[in-house]
Amino acid sequence: MDSGKQLTGTLAVAVFTATLGSLQYGYSLGVINAPQKVIEKHYARALGVGSERTAVLSKNTTEEDEEIPGEGIHRDVIMYWSLSVAIFSIGGMFSSFLVGFVGDLRGRVKGMLMVNVLAVVAGLLMGLCRMWKPHIMVISGRAVMGFYCGLTSGLVPMYIGEIAPKAYRGALGTLHQLAIVIGILISQVIGLDFVLGNDDMWPLLLGLSGAPAILQSLLLPLCPESPRYLYILLGKEQEAKESLYRLKGAYDATSDLEEMRREKQQADKEPRISILSLIRSSVYRKQLFVALMMHLSQQLSGINAIFYYSTAIFTLAGVAQPVYATIGVGVINTVFTMVSVVLVDKAGRRTLTLAGLAGMCFCAIAMTVGLRFQNDFSWMSYISMSAIFLFVSFFEIGPGPIPWFIVAELFSQGPRPAAIALAGCCNWTSNFVIGMTFQYIQDWLGCYVFILFAVLLLGFTVFTFLRVPETKGKSFEEISALFQKGRKKQAQTPKGNAELQQLRTSTDA
Ligand code: GLC
Repeated sequence: MDSGKQLTGTLAVAVFTATLGSLQYGYSLGVINAPQKVIEKHYARALGVGSERTAVLSKNTTEEDEEIPGEGIHRDVIMYWSLSVAIFSIGGMFSSFLVGFVGDLRGRVKGMLMVNVLAVVAGLLMGLCRMWKPHIMVISGRAVMGFYCGLTSGLVPMYIGEIAPKAYRGALGTLHQLAIVIGILISQVIGLDFVLGNDDMWPLLLGLSGAPAILQSLLLPLCPESPRYLYILLGKEQEAKESLYRLKGAYDATSDLEEMRREKQQADKEPRISILSLIRSSVYRKQLFVALMMHLSQQLSGINAIFYYSTAIFTLAGVAQPVYATIGVGVINTVFTMVSVVLVDKAGRRTLTLAGLAGMCFCAIAMTVGLRFQNDFSWMSYISMSAIFLFVSFFEIGPGPIPWFIVAELFSQGPRPAAIALAGCCNWTSNFVIGMTFQYIQDWLGCYVFILFAVLLLGFTVFTFLRVPETKGKSFEEISALFQKGRKKQAQTPKGNAELQQLRTSTDA
């Protein structure tokens, strides 16, 4: 049987188990939106201030000192709320740097197992927040959860990329994103006020973020360690072989082992590369540039402007029940990620990214036209609505899922962990920047805000067309070779030679 085409039960369990971490990431991304008002009320109570204008005034405070005019919410409540949202990304920005270290320490599987402690602690802090100051408990819980998610958003694609058969690497890699969007959708639905997004249940809603970690911890011991980690990093050929048999069933492993042997020879020439040496190196510059640009294009496409502010955007577009329209976005999001799972190993990463970015650019323009003219023509709000749904669909076809797994494909074993860490940090930082600045940009540009994203999307489309190679169905070796031409020339120059030498002696991970 063709060794590249087998999908076994163990592989399915391993991928399912790993993506429970992605589910948790998606849940944590989405969970904070729906219950905002309810949580703010509890913060206000805990702080001894009112969440309503009248309550603030009755405490003899002046409106200018304590309250945001027009909002009716105490300044401290707003500050603690914003911190509860933002601290998640800050946690992720820091921990994403540690992905390589954690993944290499005891392997990918044990790495995922270890970091689950963080998720459970975070879940408990939030779930039990009524026992002490809720605002402090929630902020601490969100910080720890962000730290956990920064690690898991790197470890999961790394593990899946290393255990997936070549022919399904794209589809299985896309399951990371599928689990993220399912997590977002679950949090949107159970965050509705008649489910858990209410006065009594909101701590449970937040605390549940830690639940998948418990299930994952029970299943991880059943998952085989990455054969590439075992063989290429630890030199344990026999264990790697056993892991391959568990993942792929009874088959002739000769060609897989041969491929890993060649990768090992290559990796031995360039021992583990640190983040710093990867940044400094001109040897990997092309790959690194492509990886970072793909993550930037995912975030600077404006997707999270839609996710964080969809309810406000739908209200602006004249939708009567914005909360349900937001859940509609979550459903479309999930459906089109499934489409990507089916297409990504057939159509290819490059084609889907190009189609997705170009489509999003077109939708951003349509959204602007809709928002600009909706007061003149009422049917224009349908244009904005359809444009939002299409925008999300195009995102999930390519620019959403592909950056997460393509970094593991673009780099050989030596620089892979450092590259995943850098790309992850770039993703989390740009996500944070958009989350913090979008409202100000919107105030500044009004209905033209999506023109900004249209321009960026056009730039990213052109970049992808010119620079992103197709990685579908290629071995890691063949993919490195795509960047090799320039690299060989580079290595022949005195500077390139010196640099390769330096990378070889660099041992810090
Ligand atoms: C990707 C992005 C994340 C976004 C999500 C939406 O996973 O990294 O920031 O919220 O897609 O589906």
